[in-house]
Parts: sequence; C-alpha cells; structure tokens
Amino acid sequence: MNKKTFYITTPIYYPSAKLHIGNTYTTVAADAIARFKRLTGYDTMFLTGTDEHGQKIQRVAEQKGITPKEYVDVMVKSIKDLWKMMNISYDKFIRTTDDYHERTLQKIFTKLYKQGDIYKGYYEGWYCTPCESFWTETQLVDGKCPDCGRPVEKTKEEAYFFKMSKYADRLIKYIEEHPGFIEPESRKNEMLNNFLKPGLQDLCISRTSFNWGVPVEFDKKHVIYVWMDALVNYITALGYGQPDDYNFKKYWPCDVHLVGKDILRFHTIYWPIFLMALGLPLPKKIFGHGWLLVDGGKMSKSKGNVVDPVVLINNFGVDPVRYYLLREIPFGSDGMFNNELFIKKINSDLANDLGNLLSRTVAMITKYFDGVIQPPTAKEACDNDLIESALAVPKKVEDAVDSLKVSDALDIIWGLIGRANKYVDETAPWVLAKDEKNKARLGTVLYNLAETLRIISVLLSSFLPDTSKKINKQLNVELTTWDSIASFDGTKAGSKVVKGESLFPRIDVKSKLKELELIHKKEQEKAVKMQPVKDEITIDDFEKIDLRVAKVKACEPVKGANKLLKLKVEMAGEERQIVSGIAKYYKPEELIGKSVVIVANLKPVKLRGELSQGMIIAAASDDDSILHAVEVPSDIPSGSIVR
Ligand code: ME8
Repeated sequence: MNKKTFYITTPIYYPSAKLHIGNTYTTVAADAIARFKRLTGYDTMFLTGTDEHGQKIQRVAEQKGITPKEYVDVMVKSIKDLWKMMNISYDKFIRTTDDYHERTLQKIFTKLYKQGDIYKGYYEGWYCTPCESFWTETQLVDGKCPDCGRPVEKTKEEAYFFKMSKYADRLIKYIEEHPGFIEPESRKNEMLNNFLKPGLQDLCISRTSFNWGVPVEFDKKHVIYVWMDALVNYITALGYGQPDDYNFKKYWPCDVHLVGKDILRFHTIYWPIFLMALGLPLPKKIFGHGWLLVDGGKMSKSKGNVVDPVVLINNFGVDPVRYYLLREIPFGSDGMFNNELFIKKINSDLANDLGNLLSRTVAMITKYFDGVIQPPTAKEACDNDLIESALAVPKKVEDAVDSLKVSDALDIIWGLIGRANKYVDETAPWVLAKDEKNKARLGTVLYNLAETLRIISVLLSSFLPDTSKKINKQLNVELTTWDSIASFDGTKAGSKVVKGESLFPRIDVKSKLKELELIHKKEQEKAVKMQPVKDEITIDDFEKIDLRVAKVKACEPVKGANKLLKLKVEMAGEERQIVSGIAKYYKPEELIGKSVVIVANLKPVKLRGELSQGMIIAAASDDDSILHAVEVPSDIPSGSIVR
C-alpha cells in the first residue's frame, strides 16, 4: 500500500545577512512538524532553501568586490551549517541559482506570456539617485525620498506585468469556499478585506535596472523580479516542468506552506494566482506564524538587538534553543525573547521538570534494583491515572501538530511530565524502599515511571531529537515507534538502565547573563574592520577644531526627512541649533538632557531648510547599524573645551 504523503515548506531565505534567532523559527517549526509526520507514518517531503537574486544581493557583492554568485555561495554555506547545527532534517534544499530552477522559471514566464497573462508595460515610479531606490507615489514623504529627504525624480522603466486583476474574483471565491486555506483565520480576513476586495493591481515581475536575476527567455535585458522567482521554487524543487517530475506528481499540492506573517500576502495572493494561471491545484494550507520579538520590539540590525543563534547553541546546546522557539511562539501570536527568560525557561521546564524526572527515575532504579527494570507485577489503583494520561497524550499531541499548534503540543507533553513528577510524590518510592515487603510495589512504580519516560521520549523525538536520544540511552529503550506508545508496555523488564550525565544542568542566571553580555561585546568588537587611518595632521591642524561639551535642551524630528533630528543645545548659556542625521538611532526624547560633544566652529549650513550650527560627534559601527553619540559625564559644565 502506498504511504500517505505530506509536503511542507519554509520560505526560502535571503542570504544577504546572517540569520538571527527570529529567522530560524520558521525552519525549526517546519522541522518539528516534518519529523512528527514521518514518525506518524507519512512519506514526508520537507523543503527549504535560499532566495538568491535581486538588487540588494548584487549591491552587497559589489561593495565587497566579488561577484554575486561568489557572495551567495559563502552565505548559503553558513545557512546550511546553521541548519545542520540545529538538527534540521530537510529533504531538499533549493537555491534559486540552481540551473533546473532557473530554466523552469524561464519556461513558466514564457508560458504565462504566451497565454496572455503577462504583458509588457512601464514601471513608473520615483527614483532617489543618491539612495538608488524606487518609491511609489504613496511612499514619498512631502514628495521627497522617505529615507534621506532629498528630491526624487520621476522615472519610467520598461517592465513586464502580471495580470493579477484577471484572477482576483476566482481567488476570493476560492478563499471563501476553503476555510482552512489561510490560517490563522484573522489573517485570512486581513488578506480578503485589506488587499483582495479593494482591488488588485497588476504586479511588476521584471526589471532592467539590475541584472542579478534570471533573464526573460525572449527578452534578455529583463530579469525576472524576485517574488515570481522565489515563489515558484515550491514546484520547481519537485521537478515541475522538468523531465523527472516524479516528486511533483507525488507531493503536489503542498500540505503546508509555513511562512512568517510579514510575507503571508505574497503567499496567499500572488502565489495562488500564479498557480491558477498555470492550471495547477492550490496548496492545502498557508499558515502565517507570529514573530519572535526582543525587548525593543522587532529584531533588527539597526537596533543592535539581533540574537545570534550560534552563540545560544554554543552556550546552551541545540535543544534548549529549539524548545524555547517552539514553546514560546503560540499559534498565530508573537513570542518574546530575552536571555533571562530563556535561561529561566531552561531551568524550570528542562532542568527541573524533565531533567529531574529522568535523573530521579534512573537513580532510583540504580539504587534499589542495581539498574534492572522490574516487571510491573504489583499495580495499584493510583497508577491508573498516570497510565491513562500517558495513553491519551499521543492523540492529543497529534491533533495539536495537525492543526499546527506546535506550542500546544509541547504544553500537552509537559502536562504528562508534570503528571509523572506528581506520581513520584504520590507513591514516594524512597518510603517504599524502606521495607523489603514493598519490593514488588517499588519495582512497579519505577517501571511505570520508566515507561512514561519512554512515551515522553517518543513524543519528544520530533521536537527535541537529541534529548530524546539521550533519554533512550539512559533508559536503554529499544521501542521508539509511534505504534509502540499506543499501549503502556513497551519498556522491557529485565533490561538495565545506564546512568548518564544530567540532561540539562541548572544554570546560574546571574553569572550566565554576565557571560553572555561579554560574549556579545566581544562579537561586536570582532565585527569591526580596521579602516585605514587618514593622512597625518599637525597639532596646529588639530587646534583648529573647536570641540565643546553641549547640553541637549530640546530635540524633534525634521519634518519630511526620516533621517534627521533637530536639536537645541546649550553651551555656557549660549543656545544654538544643530541638525543631525541620527534619527534612526535615537528617539528625540532619548537625547534631551544628555551632555554631548560637538564641533562648535563648523561652518553653519542649511539642511532641509533648517540651520545647523555645528556637528554632534558620534561613534558608529562599520556598517552603520549601531551608533552612539559621544557623551560626557554631567559634572563637566556645558561649554567646556574637549581636547
Ligand atoms: O522573506 N520572528 O526571506 P527572509 C519570526 N526570501 N520569524 C521571522 C522573524 C522573527 N523575528 N524575522 C524573520 C523572505 N522571520 C523571502 C521569502 S519565499 C518564496 C521568499 C521569518 O530571509 C520570515 O517571516 O527575509 C520568513 O518566514 C523567514 O524568517 C525568512 O525571511
């Protein structure tokens, strides 16, 4: 009999920056689901990969003086290394630079053009030459570049467009008739009401202003614009449109596209419409998960708050990281990350609840029975609740995973861990051990604990694969199949447990937090590349620069210029105004009251119509992602000379 199939995908990642802990959530969640489906008997295909074309990649490579392909090759290797480190069990890794993908994408484009869904037109927009960015009318601020506040020019670029509008009604009908197609429900309504129902604009799908992309077969000066290139990966990876399309026939339509909420729109509108145009069935489900937020909100390089998964794995091991991600982002909502929450969760859930249950059980079997698991010959009524709970859990976990509630699945497993810990207190094996006549009962209690742990280990194998293996090793478990946890008798009496290291040693929160802070600092220092020192100047040259301490009295944004702040500073009673490009790094109220250092004798200029009399001195990281104004302790009076 043919096995049931299950096809799950993650988005393909941009290899333009190092992945942070938030990025890894989609892949860890997809991995847990894929492992679970394999465990429960499905022939599973788990696809991930990288989205390697586009202007951004081309620019970064140019800055580094290498070709885009050389650049992505290095970055993709580091992504693959990370997935290996995180135990990601993907079945296929697609790169959009793979030649089978490029060829098939070209064929798809040509087919859609020939059937009249793609037409040539003009992409009209506003261009900011210094920023090299296109903007739409609505993105402009006071008619100027929203990034730098400078004037923009109207440009017209020849481009191909996809007729989205042609398919909009069909898609609305499809979404309304297929309740599980977009999840969570709230996001489905957002897609319908905010994007589809107000009317779809045709989508620009080619560019001529850069060339790092897949050329249009019949018009080579155009490259196919990123979203079309990226989305079709889900079928090109399976062999669609290629001589060997065995996997496509076997796995399509996809069971779940797992994506972050930020890219749900592309997956629930453009992707189904491309598929309709190709005459292909739509995926069964597109699920938009929430974000992992850090204290200041979204993780971003410019806030300097990105959390490096490699640092966490090196310090705590991979399963604590997987556990935190999977447990902390509830179905459809956002989760929070900070080091303290993370360490406390390891201590409470992993070290106390799970780790202790295993170490107590193994220690008692070792102490009372020389490590030999006894047959459960002296059952008592109070065992039933534990046994019934253990037998009910697999179905509950399966239901939770099937509805993509991965965090709920872990809640349910932890419910059983809690129940088993309570059973230890109820039966008090150390009291039973005091009297030889309780030997059979003591053996039964410990058998029940070992068997519950075996069931827990099978259940955990999809979420925390390494931990599951460690539990099996200590308990000497042989039966690890899904079927084996349908009854409470898989542990073999007579086999010997092997006492091992503690699964999760308790962590001292305070000292570990300090250690992590130091690591973070060192990482940042390492990231600094020494720029060549400028030509020598004489002391007389230096004397010309008048550096002064100035106190910030007021600060506000400059209207229409996203990057600029307008500061009123005071030096020994004298007030002046300085316009500074630091809006990305400071909220105006954060600067008020600070004593900063300014170049006081810089020739005044007007920036965006505002007079700027001087410049604030600041230190910035190499890539400008972090910046701090140089501050002086408040006991130095304003107006003092800095030398
Ligand atoms: O969007 N918390 O790639 P990507 C949770 N190439 N998830 C997060 C997150 C956070 N803080 N930050 C990012 C792309 N993500 C496209 C996809 S698919 C045809 C093309 C998630 O590298 C994000 O939502 O920017 C997405 O699911 C994944 O990381 C990769 O994002």
